[in-house]
Amino acid sequence: MTPQAAAATEPRTLAPPERRLSRVAANEALGAYRLISTHDGHGPADPRPGQFFMLAAAERWGAGADERPYLPRAFSYARARPERPGVRLDFLLEAIGPGTDRLAQLSPGEELALVGPLGVGFRPPEPGSRPLLVGGGIGTAPLLCLAEQLDSPTILLGFRSGAHAEAARLFPDAAVATDDGSVGRRALVTELLAEELDDGPTTVYACGPAPMLEAVRALCAERGVPAQLALESGMACGFGACFGCVVPTKRGYIRLCLDGPVLDADRLESAL
Ligand SMILES: Cc1cc2nc3c(=O)[nH]c(=O)nc-3n(C[C@H](O)[C@H](O)[C@H](O)COP(=O)(O)OP(=O)(O)OC[C@H]3O[C@@H](n4cnc5c(N)ncnc54)[C@H](O)[C@@H]3O)c2cc1C
Ligand code: FES
Repeated sequence: MTPQAAAATEPRTLAPPERRLSRVAANEALGAYRLISTHDGHGPADPRPGQFFMLAAAERWGAGADERPYLPRAFSYARARPERPGVRLDFLLEAIGPGTDRLAQLSPGEELALVGPLGVGFRPPEPGSRPLLVGGGIGTAPLLCLAEQLDSPTILLGFRSGAHAEAARLFPDAAVATDDGSVGRRALVTELLAEELDDGPTTVYACGPAPMLEAVRALCAERGVPAQLALESGMACGFGACFGCVVPTKRGYIRLCLDGPVLDADRLESAL
C-alpha cells in the first residue's frame, strides 16, 4: 500500500496543534463511574472511535498554588455529537487517583483543557464479517461510539460488580457478565467471547484491563479470528514527544499514542 493510500484508510482524525479550553456541560454519576460531557467549540466534529484526548482541569490541576501542575491524563472519548460550533464530547471515567478525582469533581460551567483527538482508532470490519465488541470495566468507553457506528454489533461487557455494570445501560443491547454475578452472568467476559466465536466470520474489537486483552488476543489467535485491541500505557504528552508510552510489538517498540492505542492483535506477542 502506498503511504497516500494508507493515510486515506487510517482511522485517524488529526488534532488541531494546540491545547484548547472546553466548557463542562454535565458531570453525572453512572454507578461506579462518572459521565462527563463537555462542549469543545473549536475541535473537529469527527473523532474516530478508539481515538483519545489528553484532559486537564483548567483550574486546581496540581498539588497547590506554588507546586507543579499534574500532567494531563489520557481518556478515550465515549460519544461525540456535532454541536455548532464544534462538538459535544462525552467521557466515561473511573476515579482512581489525583487526576481522575479532580475531573470527577468538575462542575457544569467549569473549563476543561483538552488536546485531541489523538492516535489511531478502530478500523471497520471487512464486508461480511460480524463485529463483536468485548469490553471490560472502564474499557467499555471507546466501544460506545464504535457500537453507534457499526451495523448490529454483538456486544459483550464484563464488570467487577453491579455498580460498575451500570455502564452497560449506555449500550442498547449488551450481554453482561460480572465477577460477583450481581448483574448478568457470573463469568468473565472472555467466557462469553469463547462461546460467541464459533458463529461465522467475525472481527473482534476489545478494550479493557491488560489481562483481559491478553486473554482475548490468545483466544482469537487460537481460533484464527482477526482482533483489534485498544491498549493502555502511561502517557505524558499524547503526541509522540516523550516516548513514555512505548510498547513492544513483534517488529520492535512503538509509541502507543502515535501508532495506537488500537493495534491489530497479531502485531503483539502479548498484550500484557
Ligand atoms: C489511550 C488511553 C485511554 C484511556 N481512556 C480512559 C477512559 O476512557 N476512562 C478512564 O477512566 N481512564 C482511561 N484511561 C486511563 C487513565 O488515563 C488513567 O487512569 C489516568 O491517567 C489516571 O490518572 P490519576 O491521576 O487519576 O491516577 P494516577 O495516580 O495516574 O494512577 C492511579 C493508578 O493507576 C495506574 N495507572 C495510571 N494510568 C494507567 C494506565 N494508563 N495503565 C495502567 N495503569 C495506570 C497508576 O500506576 C496508579 O497505580 C486511558 C488511558 C489511555 C492510555
Ligand atoms: S505519550 Fe508521549 S510519546 Fe506517547
